[in-house]
Amino acid sequence: MASSYVAGLAILKRQGAGMIIRFVLLSLFLTYSVTAQAVPVSDAAHGTRSYDEYEKPLVCQSCHDDIYQQWTQAMMSQAYTHHWDEIEYFELAIPHAEKDEMVAGVKHGCNGCHAPTSFLAGDTPPPRPEENSRANESVHCDHCHSVTGFEGDIPHNFNWISEPGRLKKGPKPGVESPHHDTVENDFIKTGDFCGTCHNEMSPYGIWVKSTHLEWKEGPYYEQGVHCQDCHMPKAKGRSAKMGEEGMIAQHLFHGAHDPGKLNGSIEMRMNPLEREVEYDGAAVINVQLFNGKCGHKVPSGSVEDRIMWLHVTATDSEGKTWHLPVDPKGFAGEEYTIAADEMAYQDMAIAKNIPDFAGVQRDGVPVGDRIFRMAYFDPQGRMTIQQWNTKSLGFDYRIGPRETKVETFTWEMPDDIAFGPVRLDAVLKYQRLVTPVAEFLNVPAEEYEPQIINVATTTFEVFE
Ligand code: HEC
Ligand code: HEC
Ligand code: HEC
Ligand code: HEC
Ligand code: HEC
Repeated sequence: MASSYVAGLAILKRQGAGMIIRFVLLSLFLTYSVTAQAVPVSDAAHGTRSYDEYEKPLVCQSCHDDIYQQWTQAMMSQAYTHHWDEIEYFELAIPHAEKDEMVAGVKHGCNGCHAPTSFLAGDTPPPRPEENSRANESVHCDHCHSVTGFEGDIPHNFNWISEPGRLKKGPKPGVESPHHDTVENDFIKTGDFCGTCHNEMSPYGIWVKSTHLEWKEGPYYEQGVHCQDCHMPKAKGRSAKMGEEGMIAQHLFHGAHDPGKLNGSIEMRMNPLEREVEYDGAAVINVQLFNGKCGHKVPSGSVEDRIMWLHVTATDSEGKTWHLPVDPKGFAGEEYTIAADEMAYQDMAIAKNIPDFAGVQRDGVPVGDRIFRMAYFDPQGRMTIQQWNTKSLGFDYRIGPRETKVETFTWEMPDDIAFGPVRLDAVLKYQRLVTPVAEFLNVPAEEYEPQIINVATTTFEVFE
């Protein structure tokens, strides 16, 4: 309580008169919610503006046609409308928020990042996507180009400051437009701008999305490489039909939905420790996985949903094939990083109203495969894909920027192996949502199709 008041006052001082209305609203909100937890300042912006204050993307299209078309192909233009988002918001988050006071804030909070203008307009919950309301604009042009900075010390949970109007905030100084004024805003060129939505803290105070924090702790931030350098590369062209030629930020925002971006994002090699193995001996094989392309960990973002896993098989000279389970390393929490036949995600039953729900299978990939992931746990200590219901995290076994992990496979030669060459195949796959959850919630197949990130192969000989 008290700390929110102090934060409010500090902002009032910094921002001046424009903040008074918001501060009054914040005070009213605090007075009425004495028993609730401290309210993050970003939540207080709910309902403080109207849709009319923001221009539609179609208005921008008439001059910024190229950028507009790029944006319509990026996930941020579909952040409110694509199926998995709709399912999670309407079928899990809203019903859960209505039953559990602790997570009540997600009802409007999801849209603080997925449909920021609906959140500001207090349109909660907005109409369903098929009703084609302005919520469908999702993360749109005039939202990003109205942001002037962020509140607090760490960008997260939609703590951006929005000042809509005729003055569009862009990356360059002295740019002229017939439709609007422009001003150079250094903030929009930084990773902190992206962090206002790409870091998320759960109502239990846990970092459940930390792409920006991972980047900030890693080598790229230190070298001055920002999110924009990899996700909005610059190319020669014009940003508007009648604009000046120059180096223009491409609004591509490729991520885990783009096979080309994922492809090779982890480099992989594999070698046996010995090229010749006795028929009653054991082969020891090492697989090296190097993250040479991502500014953050892999997977990042919606880590509660995402898995990347390593599948290794051996084929002898007669064509018989075996699946090799990974050697455990022995760290605490490792059981969540090796595929097993376990049930999980029982907390979906709260929203779905299923008594004594046993959950669904945890991984949906072959038992014994190494999974690069970080498990999320609900207040009862069960694994969850509901990031808003997350009270603790498991061991972080993802691959950090420029980090290399080595996995070992010790394989006792089976009795029926043929003498001669044995071929080893390693496949590294990525999935945006584990199959058993996707099937349980009827998520369309294209939302969780496995993608191959990389493959590696090697051989050894079995001798008498
Ligand atoms: C009538 C045409 C027109 C419309 C409509 C229009 N713009 Fe522009 N805009 C321009 C022109 C021309 C420039 C200057 C381009 C140049 O010289 O490089 C510009 C520049 C900008 C810049 C500054 C870029 C920089 O280099 O810093 C931003 C940001 C911007 N527009 C955003 C928008 C947004 C958001 C919308 C829709 C709400 C919009 N514009 C609608 C014509 C338009
Ligand atoms: C997720 C936020 C986001 C959205 C959505 C977005 N932009 Fe941008 N835009 C940026 C950022 C960030 C930059 C500057 C990147 C840089 O220079 O590093 C930028 C740059 C620009 C520029 C200047 C390009 C240049 O390099 O001169 C224009 C013009 C522009 N945006 C217009 C638009 C229009 C029109 C739309 C919608 C069709 C749009 N933007 C959607 C974040 C966004
Ligand atoms: C207003 C909030 C907001 C801001 C600001 C924002 N993003 Fe996003 N971004 C989102 C949301 C929400 C999604 C998820 C879209 C969806 O539902 O799949 C997303 C998705 C993405 C994706 C696609 C990931 C995938 O899985 O394919 C990339 C890449 C991305 N953002 C990069 C950026 C970068 C770079 C910036 C800063 C220049 C930025 N974003 C700023 C909210 C935001
Ligand atoms: C050095 C280049 C680089 C930098 C810097 C970088 N990214 Fe990425 N990003 C990638 C690559 C490559 C992928 C695809 C692999 C993947 O999805 O993990 C990716 C994936 C993503 C995804 C999807 C992650 C997932 O697993 O769902 C998001 C979201 C994203 N980036 C946002 C950001 C944001 C926000 C920043 C800055 C804080 C940033 N990126 C900085 C290269 C980069
Ligand atoms: C702090 C900002 C923020 C909040 C709050 C937020 N999200 Fe997201 N959400 C994102 C970003 C950014 C991504 C993209 C991450 C990635 O690609 O890995 C995302 C991704 C997702 C995805 C995965 C999309 C895909 O295609 O795989 C779903 C589903 C989703 N969010 C639903 C929700 C729901 C439901 C809520 C409320 C309980 C919520 N989000 C709250 C920022 C947010």
